Amino acid sequence: MTKKLRSQAWFGGLGRDAFIHRSWMKNAGHPDDEFDGRPVIGICNTFSELTPCNAHFRQLAEYVKRGVREAGGLPLEFPVFSCGETNLRPTAMLFRNLASMDVEESIRGNPVDGVVLLTGCDKTTPSLVMGAASCDLPSIVVSGGPMLNGQFEGCAIGSGTDVWRFSENVRAGLMSADAFYAAESAMSRSPGHCNTMGTASTMASMVEALGLALPENAAFPAVDSRRNRLAHLAGRRIVQMVHEDLKPSQILTKAAFENAIRVIGVIGGSTNAVIHLVAIAGRAGVPVNLDDWDRCGHEVPCLLNLMPSGKYLMEDFCYAGGLPALMKEMEHLLHLEALTVTGKSVGENISSARCYNREVIAPFDEPFQPHGGIAVLRGNLAPNGAVLKPSAASPALMRHRGRAVVFETIEDFKTRIDDPALPVDASSVLVLKNCGPKGYPGMPEVGNMALPVKLLKQGIRDMVRISDARMSGTAFGTTVLHVSPEAEVGGPLALVRDRDYIELDMEGRKLHLEVSDAELEARRKTWKPPRPSMASGYQRLYVEHVMQADQGADFDFLLGCRGCAAPHRESH
Ligand code: FES
Repeated sequence: MTKKLRSQAWFGGLGRDAFIHRSWMKNAGHPDDEFDGRPVIGICNTFSELTPCNAHFRQLAEYVKRGVREAGGLPLEFPVFSCGETNLRPTAMLFRNLASMDVEESIRGNPVDGVVLLTGCDKTTPSLVMGAASCDLPSIVVSGGPMLNGQFEGCAIGSGTDVWRFSENVRAGLMSADAFYAAESAMSRSPGHCNTMGTASTMASMVEALGLALPENAAFPAVDSRRNRLAHLAGRRIVQMVHEDLKPSQILTKAAFENAIRVIGVIGGSTNAVIHLVAIAGRAGVPVNLDDWDRCGHEVPCLLNLMPSGKYLMEDFCYAGGLPALMKEMEHLLHLEALTVTGKSVGENISSARCYNREVIAPFDEPFQPHGGIAVLRGNLAPNGAVLKPSAASPALMRHRGRAVVFETIEDFKTRIDDPALPVDASSVLVLKNCGPKGYPGMPEVGNMALPVKLLKQGIRDMVRISDARMSGTAFGTTVLHVSPEAEVGGPLALVRDRDYIELDMEGRKLHLEVSDAELEARRKTWKPPRPSMASGYQRLYVEHVMQADQGADFDFLLGCRGCAAPHRESH
């Protein structure tokens, strides 16, 4: 190796500061030669017992360390903000950008030459990739892997997806409390993240499709020994990547993003991927927008029969061949020349992949569902776009015209939705406002509004729902999400009133409010922006700087790559 490594700006030489840097590190028992110029690999760990999906990451990090040491590197693990989806209030999305800042500054400010990003729960993947992309130091992602299949009363049950079904059954009086508790235990029976094709699994697939993770990263269950082997191999590989100076900017090209969009479309991935991928592209300085999602995702079928679009789970996907097998099936749609962390192209990585279960991964010419992808809708109700996941929607509702039942806030929705006097029927369109990036703030996953009990009791299980919120990747239904601009900033959604007619046309990519321009203008004159909910603290920073959903909901001042030059100034 000829190039002097970045870490030597801390650990090299005989200066006073070098003494300080080495001496304090030696309190962990490092011998002299560990600071001899070998690659220092940061292991960016989102372990937290409050993020149950990532609670096994201390052990996973040990496997990465094995590989780093074997390849001649020095592994140093560091913690970053862990955005856990289930516990963090008011919503983990509020903190994705904060975590990305933590990651970026932790990498740039420390003596590391490359990083392994340990990600799992939904927001932990985009936050780490966004931070790493803004630094552009050699980086490789290791996902923590999904939980084993849930099993309840003889049937497979999926994280999240069956929660909505069970809770609706309880509300409709069809499931007992005891069965509800038993189902909780049966759903989450091993370490790992959600075992459906929810956001976490979509993110794990996304990083593999982007070329930022080793092949087969997406599907090995968390407790499968091959997950640990993959972590071990990633540890070896990141040391080589440092020697090769292979950086995210060489991998995160427009071609890589188009590959990811197409793969996410074909797996029936989460709508949240739209926001996260646009945000990552923004950090990498690659122009990716909703038009790319529609162009690349339009007319791709869904090949993967996984919940919430289908019936299988991530463990089944693993046994069927995992993401390489799926990518092989759709290789004619991919940029096969795109470079990956293996140092090889996508085409080389998947060349020998095979499918072992056609029930789980359907052949391209006999797809599981004809419509994959994410449909981007536009119209006078969403001038800057809104999204709908066709594979999780009801075919009968993809073209629909109905009267609005409007809720000004999520609290308003919860108060009135089960009111027997609410004028709502199966043809109504539920409209929820003020749940966008600035409005909530933080854009929570409330877009798949629960249906009114009186309709559930009639056997209704889906309705058209429209909001500026997001939806859990494990959820399903004919839900139009991410309406942009959001109601809080005066988007047309703010002007919708009860009994207005709304037209949804998925094929025509249309979302239209049947109210004249003149009437909308009159309503706008009387509209008042809601009062900001937070005058100080992080939420104030968030509300002042978060961009709209179609722009990835990143902070305006975080766009772009700021590089990884070691800061020259010292604090002592
Ligand atoms: Fe963590 Fe689903 S809640 S992955």
